[in-house]
Amino acid sequence: QKPHFGLTGLAVMGQNLARNVAHNGFPIAVHNRTASKVDEFIADFGTEGTFVGAHSLKELVDALEAPRTILIMVKAGGPVDAVIDELVPLLSPGDTLIDGGNSLYTDTQRRNKDLTAKGLNFLGVGVSGGEEGALNGPSIMPGGQREAYDRVAPIFEAISAKVDGTPCVAYIGADGAGHYVKMVHNGIEYADMQLIAEAYDLLKNVCGLSNNELAKTFGEWNEGDLDSFLIEITTQIFQTKDTLTEGHLVDFVLDKAAQKGTGKWTSQNALDLGIPVTGITEAVFARCLSALKDERVAASTQLPGPVDVAFEGDKVAFVNDIRDALYCSKIVAYAQGIQLMDAAAAEFGWSLNRGEIATIWRGGCIIRARFLNRIKDAYDNNPELANLMLDPYFRDGLAARQAAWRRVVGEAVKLGVPVPAFASSLAYYDGYRRASLPANLIQAQRDLFGAHTYERTDREGTFHSSWGA
Ligand code: 6PG
Repeated sequence: QKPHFGLTGLAVMGQNLARNVAHNGFPIAVHNRTASKVDEFIADFGTEGTFVGAHSLKELVDALEAPRTILIMVKAGGPVDAVIDELVPLLSPGDTLIDGGNSLYTDTQRRNKDLTAKGLNFLGVGVSGGEEGALNGPSIMPGGQREAYDRVAPIFEAISAKVDGTPCVAYIGADGAGHYVKMVHNGIEYADMQLIAEAYDLLKNVCGLSNNELAKTFGEWNEGDLDSFLIEITTQIFQTKDTLTEGHLVDFVLDKAAQKGTGKWTSQNALDLGIPVTGITEAVFARCLSALKDERVAASTQLPGPVDVAFEGDKVAFVNDIRDALYCSKIVAYAQGIQLMDAAAAEFGWSLNRGEIATIWRGGCIIRARFLNRIKDAYDNNPELANLMLDPYFRDGLAARQAAWRRVVGEAVKLGVPVPAFASSLAYYDGYRRASLPANLIQAQRDLFGAHTYERTDREGTFHSSWGA
């Protein structure tokens, strides 16, 4: 009998997903644009499961039993459209195309609409976990037609990561919802990485920790509340020796952070929806600033920092303060990301289940972390929770650590160490907990120079005044 499931795009993510599907007992037809890659793939991995090699998209479609499902694993953007355009005339009504790349959710919405009009289903599926996750269990965020997802759900549930026996996959919502949630996942990933980098800067340059001590410190942090994939790999990075020199490899890596756009999209959309996603946005900008290497090198001899200041506190205590500042700022990054998803749900008519999203991020994905269990609990306990920081567990955790958080930001400012994500997260916390902000003055200014009107605190209505004595 022919398989129902096929995959096109045998780059490393596609290869690993195809192998994962086969390992779980599902026969799969595989295709790649460069046809020789199909033969190589079958030669290398053919014994791992039931594969059918296809040398053209026509062969791929013919190799599948209807209703067919084809997972597209090609570069986001134009290449996805090109594959879809070539496949559409070959398909029959009821067939399903799945885009498993990091596509922009608006592209997914458009493709879903176009294909629906042609009688086809289209799922936009966020897949996280890198190469290793794709092979052994990723976190999967599917969006699109529910019925189409239900047909493919047994495969996704089988190949996904499992935490306490629960698969890290759940239907997210219609059209672009899966890719939207993956985008926010990546935004949080950016924030998390920037926060860890800021902690590294302080640990190294204020506390004077060596790479070996950094490995030990991150290793210890990974035993506690910060237990997560990103802290774990950070530990490994500080353990890695360079093969070309005597030193540690990390010290030879050029300090220019690259980006493919998912973090930027999160911030762009946050601006569109008016949601203060400051931690993620600072993380995106920090990558942009890092990329200005030549300018920074030139400025480093021209712009002075603080003069005659030194760290005077207890370094061991400060290391723990940095850990606490990281934990608090991380809560803020998740709180902001979830606020953004709430706003998107309202905007696009999705009903995003925040507890379920936290559940599927517990394993397989780049931001997997022990505290996602607590996020899930927070929304199980109160599905209406307005902000993650208000959940009693996180509220108390922030309260217990806020003094440390303030010491870290204060010390960094004093010493001239840039901590944009730590500082903006703390400012968000302080802004969110304020019943009154100085925005009354902004409203007064707007009304004075442009008659933009204002509301009053003591009576209903819209007012305009003539200002000045
Ligand atoms: C994942 C990652 C992955 C992403 C990389 C690189 O969830 O597995 O998010 O999808 O492509 O993290 O992203 P940048 O190149 O933008 O850092």
